[in-house]
Amino acid sequence: MSNHTSASARKILVTSALPYANGPLHMGHMVEYIQTDIWSRFQKMRGHMCTYVCADDAHGTAISLHAEKQGITPEESVARIHQDRLADFGDFHVQFDNYFSTHSEENRELCSEIYLKLKERGHIASRSIVQAYDPEKKMFLADRYIKGECPKCGAKDQYGDNCEVCSATYSPTDLKNPYSTISGATPIEKESEHFFFKLTDFQEFLQGWTRSGTIKDEIANKLAEWLDTGLQDWDISRDAPYFGFEIPGEPGKFFYVWLDAPIGYMASFKNLCDRTEGLNFDEYWKKDSTAEVHHFIGKDIVNFHCLFWPAMLHGTDYRTPTKVSVHGYLTINGEKMSKSRGTFITARTYLDHLDPEYLRYYYAAKLSSRVDDLDLNTTDFIQRVNSDLVGKVVNIASRNAGFIAKRFDGKLSETDCAPELTKAFMDASETIANAYEEREFGKAMREIMALADKANAWIDDVKPWVVAKEEGKDKELHDICSTGINLFRLLTIYLKPVLPAMAEKAAAFLNVGELEWEHSQHLLFNHGVNKFKPLMTRVEQAKVDAMMEDSQKLAAAMKAASPAKEGDKPVSEDNALAEPIADTIEFGDFAKVDLRIAKIVNAEFVEGADKLLRLTLDIGEGKTRNVFSGIRAAYAPEALVGKHTVMVANLAARKMKFGISEGMVLAAGPGGSDLWILEPHDGAKPGMRVM
Ligand code: MSP
Ligand code: ZN
Repeated sequence: MSNHTSASARKILVTSALPYANGPLHMGHMVEYIQTDIWSRFQKMRGHMCTYVCADDAHGTAISLHAEKQGITPEESVARIHQDRLADFGDFHVQFDNYFSTHSEENRELCSEIYLKLKERGHIASRSIVQAYDPEKKMFLADRYIKGECPKCGAKDQYGDNCEVCSATYSPTDLKNPYSTISGATPIEKESEHFFFKLTDFQEFLQGWTRSGTIKDEIANKLAEWLDTGLQDWDISRDAPYFGFEIPGEPGKFFYVWLDAPIGYMASFKNLCDRTEGLNFDEYWKKDSTAEVHHFIGKDIVNFHCLFWPAMLHGTDYRTPTKVSVHGYLTINGEKMSKSRGTFITARTYLDHLDPEYLRYYYAAKLSSRVDDLDLNTTDFIQRVNSDLVGKVVNIASRNAGFIAKRFDGKLSETDCAPELTKAFMDASETIANAYEEREFGKAMREIMALADKANAWIDDVKPWVVAKEEGKDKELHDICSTGINLFRLLTIYLKPVLPAMAEKAAAFLNVGELEWEHSQHLLFNHGVNKFKPLMTRVEQAKVDAMMEDSQKLAAAMKAASPAKEGDKPVSEDNALAEPIADTIEFGDFAKVDLRIAKIVNAEFVEGADKLLRLTLDIGEGKTRNVFSGIRAAYAPEALVGKHTVMVANLAARKMKFGISEGMVLAAGPGGSDLWILEPHDGAKPGMRVM
């Protein structure tokens, strides 16, 4: 929650769908939690009173079966998963104000209250229905727990709705030789009393609600297919054994998980209100509330959130959601996530290899308010993050920060030397804010990157590295670099909802407190900044490859392990981080490599190459050598000029797009900004051979 709210501040409660507590979070889930987090952080930065809550969706058959396979109680299983979740979310910078569970007293009370109110008002009906029943396991079977032979082609092990072999569609009772996937027993038919929520009572209300601006037309049109053909009553009860809440007054009958799950949003908020001063449950949830309630969900759960849920709320004394924002599904390299293809990437596997902010930016860049699916294309991912974040944004800071530190004692000047540019940056604030507000994150990112392009073009034009070498141009250099730092600061403010960790590092460098949106309306001059540290390193192909390999291994391990182990993390293999030592060579082989001490007489950026620096090296030959080195992310050119290093002097010259490279300098490290070039002890002179 933000603590700097003003009178005009909106009161906003925002939620993400509650993930089922029966397996690890994956990259598809993260589309939703990252997206909601960006929106929530944006609202907080704008000074609104925004509260973001979520919870584990703990009930239902899938969860109790998952626990049973591990030989533990559902409560225990849910608790374990809860811990893993908190770590995953935290590491992705998803900042909930409360992450709760639907298996809680708060939720039980709210469910009971809502149900009894609906019953009192005549919205609950009951009647007997006939259902498939597992006589061995002594439980009713939902369709997805029954398999059998396809009635058309006879293929074995098909589910009750369609055949994966011949694509025939049919109903579960058509299956030949059906069996329970839980016990293997042949299901029998059994009658039992069920409770129904009379959705039909809300037909007219829903027709209006779905067209009142709460959801996009795209979604409302889909729902119209149900609404126009007439709604059916919704079966909200399940017979014991069932992991959930028993229905008040109906022993042996439990609420279906989808009845208590959305109420879990309220329960999570209630739990937070009960321990937070100034946060009042009724103020947000009572019928006349002026607060906003925003739900973020995936396209697969629209009917629950846009039909059943608003009807339930409307049928009691609670308010309905202000907005339900629906996103599409994630594909990976153009295909549905699949364990066998190794594209089932868990949140943790990603985190084991890559910076969470890469993904936050990539998703943001690809998201719009539409329901389209979005693709995580690994090649595009690397390219986009490197070119936008490292090449454009971070670059602006690193191109200017060095001079401020070295030449101006870490102090920004008093003069904005590009007032038109800084004004354009400040004026972009509302356009970018609107895009965030409307969930047009891709548009927001494009606006921000267009500004970054302008900033870089301006720096290319005023050339601080040239000005730096000219006599008597100190003030000019100072103003250029100070203005450049200001441009970087404005970009950081606009990117902060997406890149909270980078924004924090930037704020530390800028020597300012928490960055708020309104800070984009002033500049920072005559102000001391701190030492600049690299803000973000490049995405490396090797790390992406390693993530994909691990996903493949994990999927194989999940498959190989007994079903009892499914979803558990396999013991991670010892990852040999260090490169193995190469094969032994003779001295003569080594002597073939002619290593020389080189003096770096000049270092500069290479137009069009975002990895390279052009080094001019002196090895005492009476002429200098030109060497392109992939160390741009690790070194500012001015940090290198005048230093000594070691080069391979007899490496065949290589023709590159930018010219000929006549040798190679030696550096250690994994790459990106984690690279360190060698430097000899004092006394070594250019041209000396290194043996
Ligand atoms: N438990 C229900 C939600 C109850 S809300 C009262 C549920 N859980 S889920 O774990 O299956 O999904 C949680 C959210 O993640 C849903 O909004 C779902 O749409 C989203 N996603 C799950 N897989 C996804 C992708 N592959 N891509 C994008 N979103 C995905 O549904
Ligand atoms: Zn078939």
